[in-house]
Amino acid sequence: MNEQTLSMRLERVAAYVPAGARLADIGSDHGYLPVALLGRGAIAAAVAGEVALTPFHAAQRTVRESGLSQLVSVRLADGLAAIEPGDAITAITLCGLGGEKIRDILDSGKARLSGQERLILQPNGGEQPLRQWLMDNGYRILCEEVLRENRFAYEIIVAERSGPVIYSAEELYFGPLQMQRRSPAFLAKWQRMLRLKQQTLADLAQARQAVPEERVQKVTRQTQWIIELLA
Ligand SMILES: C[S@@+](CC[C@H](N)C(=O)[O-])C[C@H]1O[C@@H](n2cnc3c(N)ncnc32)[C@H](O)[C@@H]1O
Repeated sequence: MNEQTLSMRLERVAAYVPAGARLADIGSDHGYLPVALLGRGAIAAAVAGEVALTPFHAAQRTVRESGLSQLVSVRLADGLAAIEPGDAITAITLCGLGGEKIRDILDSGKARLSGQERLILQPNGGEQPLRQWLMDNGYRILCEEVLRENRFAYEIIVAERSGPVIYSAEELYFGPLQMQRRSPAFLAKWQRMLRLKQQTLADLAQARQAVPEERVQKVTRQTQWIIELLA
């Protein structure tokens, strides 16, 4: 992967960035996504935000070598603190982080959101708490997909602020649109998850130490949802 050839995962993320967007890529690492999109003329400008020094320097190098320094600001900042009012950001990508981490970045950076930005999120696990945050903050999920690359299943969630929206517990768990679409990658993910949950339940039943009843009930409920989904 480099600034010209993105991974399939980042290509799918790129497909949801509106043409001409002013993009903030938070947790940008090498800065490949914003530089690739600018190099293709797909977006107007970008901010690449990084909290850690090594990836921050890597992003600076990618931008410098691409000759796009006029159009990309690389900033060392925690989460949405990378965004400044004058950036007029219209899309935010947060990719390759845990869903809880993405939720925490959005929550602690709420003051930096105008509400006009499209959020394009690619959590590695923790999708349910992330969807819960979106619902609690009036974001409607516009697109969702599961894709498989290098033996991992990745999810992409695209959302925009819309006003109040209500999702059921199952929709928050599986994704409201994915539940309807039932793509082969989505069903394969949940077939694997079913095996894992059943193994967890067997392990909990055999556990020598007392397992909190709440934990068993939670896993049992999720297992039942998955069985119903796949039925
Ligand atoms: C696994 S990499 C993902 C890189 C790229 N977004 C991708 O999807 O390929 C996660 C990056 O997020 C950065 N990161 C973690 N927490 C962050 C935060 N609070 N603010 C900004 N960047 C953060 C890490 O330093 C790391 O470079």
